[in-house]
Amino acid sequence: MFAVYAAEPNAQDPLAALRIGERPEPEVPDGWVRVAIRAASLNMHDLWTLRGVGIKPDRFPMILGCDGAGVLDDGTEVMLHSVISDPGWVGDETMDPKRTLLTEKHQGTFADHVVVPARNVLPKPAGLSFAEAACMGTAWLTAYRMLFVKSGLRPGQTMLVQGASGGVSTALIALGRAAGFRVWVTGRSERKRALAERLGAHAAFETGARLPERVDAVFETVGKATWSHSMKSLKPGGIIVVSGATSGGDADAELSRLFFLQMRVVGATMGTRDELADLLRFCELSGVRPVIGTELPLERAEEGFRAMLAGETAGKTVFTR
Ligand SMILES: NC(=O)c1ccc[n+]([C@@H]2O[C@H](COP(=O)([O-])OP(=O)(O)OC[C@H]3O[C@@H](n4cnc5c(N)ncnc54)[C@H](OP(=O)(O)O)[C@@H]3O)[C@@H](O)[C@H]2O)c1
Repeated sequence: MFAVYAAEPNAQDPLAALRIGERPEPEVPDGWVRVAIRAASLNMHDLWTLRGVGIKPDRFPMILGCDGAGVLDDGTEVMLHSVISDPGWVGDETMDPKRTLLTEKHQGTFADHVVVPARNVLPKPAGLSFAEAACMGTAWLTAYRMLFVKSGLRPGQTMLVQGASGGVSTALIALGRAAGFRVWVTGRSERKRALAERLGAHAAFETGARLPERVDAVFETVGKATWSHSMKSLKPGGIIVVSGATSGGDADAELSRLFFLQMRVVGATMGTRDELADLLRFCELSGVRPVIGTELPLERAEEGFRAMLAGETAGKTVFTR
């Protein structure tokens, strides 16, 4: 079948590991289902996979793509929850020590077909296109958990999103605005800050700029490049929710500030199947829809990877079949 995959890990030149070609059709184990992919979205996670981060070397070649939406063999339209937990695991799937995301152990969605455990598909809401549904399982689910499960923010309070144009950042902006938070954003260019304001941010600032006042919560996926600004921008007792470290994870923790101002730092990763169902309902009730900056046929996936590597995204990048 047609697929976009990582041939081997390449830490220095991730795009050199990218292949567009043929891979074997997957077998369908008992209790699993086959999904004919109609749309799949690109995540930074796919660039980490090409670099060999978070995946064992003997797992290559690996079809990329954590998210997707498509059609079961019986014609049912579905979307994926890509956190695959151990069959015996009960409760929050993200807490299972044996859980994997699609593309860490099992082949991903940038292909004609993907196979997943039956519990990892949800009915695609009629109000979402395949492309929109394909954005939900990773970036949007992670943003939902950061905002509504981890942060403890109340409507009316102020949130800061570090980064304006990324998949998780644009989801945080749109969801935060719809939930009644005051949404402040930092972005690296005028174009990106304008995008944030179009999506509902109340104000967008240059990366690292001093804010008019300190905020109740900061949402971090950037890491080292913005960490110090996040710490300095937070009110005493405030919270930083972290789900990524694109620019590096080795920032100075600034422990003196942390304890003296009684700040909280909380990690977040993906979300549960139930939270994904709640996210879909929230979007239906609020009218919020994923922000898709680029839609390309899967054959042209390399263009999307290049743009993400260069930091030239404007929301989600979606590949269609
Ligand atoms: N824990 C989880 O479950 C989970 C889930 C999803 C994503 N993540 C992680 O979250 C991160 C973002 O993922 P994504 O898919 O949203 O990626 P993306 O679409 O490529 O977005 C990258 C974002 O990072 C910002 N950024 C990058 N480098 C920066 C720098 N040096 N200074 C300031 N801002 C910078 C960009 O801000 P500008 O708009 O200003 O350029 C942009 O908003 C990745 O590290 C990913 O692995 C984790």
